[in-house]
Amino acid sequence: METGTTAVTVGHEPGKGRTVLAARPLEEGETVVEGTVTGTSAVQTRMSFQKDWDLHIDLDEPAQLINHSCAPNTGIVDNARGGYDFVALRPIAPGEEITWDYDTTEWEITSFADCLCGADECRGRPRGHRHHPAAPGVPTAAYLGSGRLHPVELPPDHPGFADRAYRRRRAAIAAAAEAHRPGRPAPHVSYTEEEEATWRTALTRLGDLHTHLAAPEFLDAARALDLPADRIPQLDEVSVRLTALTGFRLEPAPGLVPLRRFYGSLADSCFRATQYLRHTARPLYSPEPDVLHELVGHANALAHPRFAALYRLAGQAAARMESGQGLDLVSKVFWFTLESGVLAAPDGPRAYGASILSSSGELGQFRGAEIRRLDIDSVARAEYDITAYQSVLFQADSMDHLEDTAGAFWADCDDDTVARLCAVSA
Ligand SMILES: [Fe+2]
Repeated sequence: METGTTAVTVGHEPGKGRTVLAARPLEEGETVVEGTVTGTSAVQTRMSFQKDWDLHIDLDEPAQLINHSCAPNTGIVDNARGGYDFVALRPIAPGEEITWDYDTTEWEITSFADCLCGADECRGRPRGHRHHPAAPGVPTAAYLGSGRLHPVELPPDHPGFADRAYRRRRAAIAAAAEAHRPGRPAPHVSYTEEEEATWRTALTRLGDLHTHLAAPEFLDAARALDLPADRIPQLDEVSVRLTALTGFRLEPAPGLVPLRRFYGSLADSCFRATQYLRHTARPLYSPEPDVLHELVGHANALAHPRFAALYRLAGQAAARMESGQGLDLVSKVFWFTLESGVLAAPDGPRAYGASILSSSGELGQFRGAEIRRLDIDSVARAEYDITAYQSVLFQADSMDHLEDTAGAFWADCDDDTVARLCAVSA
């Protein structure tokens, strides 16, 4: 039998029963089989595919006949009809059996017999991705397919660049965040013991530095939020405390969020946070936002009503901007304040910006940067590079001064005022 796509035929193999075979050479990335839903159930059945916590679907043939392999040649992706498509993960030769990994969709499998895949990396028996070594506790379907088809891109100097397991782990956590829908619980990530140890190492070091180098308002907020130092908290448990303190909540982000989406969420009292952790080989360093940056840097600040109000104003300002220039200036002011801002104190500048406060390296150096008094004209003229320690920082005299400059700018600005500011500073 050939499918409508003429990509596969159905064969028979002793001991396995009906199998699905490539009917012609298949290219990597090609949709091999489109699965159409023929039935749904709240619980797992012998032939079902898990779609959500309480949604299991039956697919038509030949999708339903595709066997499991621990080294599959297809991954699955959601399709527009509520089913799954099977997409080639590598070139597949004519006659080769089409396989996918049952762990790709099933949270827990209890009734599967010993695996017959014969792959070198055979796990012996699929048990559901709840138990998968690459993604323990990531509660979502489609993570292997998504992860392999959209691998996490890291630059060659990233600590995780050559670590396949780290990249797969990041892809799995990102896929869960991608699948998240507003209003539903954030994906629960079961962090590994190694990740928990990385968190403990970083928090111990940062806690010591914050005592002497963080702004008093930030320290007050951190005490109120009371993040656990001995384990990585889940986004939802931090959200509960934050909401009680300032009305903010956290929602998962798969990685860097496009500016309009990021700021749009802030206007709605929602901060979009990544859930993956930096590479465990470098506990004190992350080249991009990770869960430690989001929680230690941003969530702590968001626990203070005055900082929370500034985040909200930045979001509302971004929402008013139609021009890229306007959005860029809102973002630049955010960078030089809520990401890398410092406040004057009797013993020298103290940080309240999330990037500095989540980096022990930058905490050790920021007082050596060129420190300028905060004003919007100067910020508009300044350049910045988010991948490096800041050589120029802006200091507010006080919280009042911060609110009267950055806060007032965000409260009033529109495309016209930004155009005028940029014309003057050009
Ligand atoms: Fe940040």
